[in-house]
Amino acid sequence: METPVDQRPDRLTARALPDGGWVRCARSADVGRTVLVWRMTCQTRTVLLWRTRRGDAVATDARCPHRQYVMEDARLVGDTVECPLHEHRFGPDGRCVNVRKASAARVLEVREVDGYLWLAMSRDAPLVVPGSRDATGR
Ligand code: FES
Repeated sequence: METPVDQRPDRLTARALPDGGWVRCARSADVGRTVLVWRMTCQTRTVLLWRTRRGDAVATDARCPHRQYVMEDARLVGDTVECPLHEHRFGPDGRCVNVRKASAARVLEVREVDGYLWLAMSRDAPLVVPGSRDATGR
């Protein structure tokens, strides 16, 4: 079963439960060098989708680990996403790169399959994305 996705370009929403722990969240072509906000209303979860300069897709939990601000207005600075409230910057691995001993942001595992980004919504998600041929998501 495919997850219905609202494909408005800057605000994406999924209303169904994930399929086997993975949820299809956006078209690959819509995720680039600006922060795309994706909401999963059934889990009240918001995720920031973006790409590194190398083109790797990243999914960062929108809740900033500093003061729990929801970073829907975050911006990219190099290969980091910057929280607008106190300007903590989080890299693709979630670590804060500009404040010592700051907590890391949560990152979700993301795979690209057939032109779509899929997110692992739990740590128990199977290795294989629905519809893909192997554990790499291809
Ligand atoms: S709430 Fe994000 S840096 Fe303070």
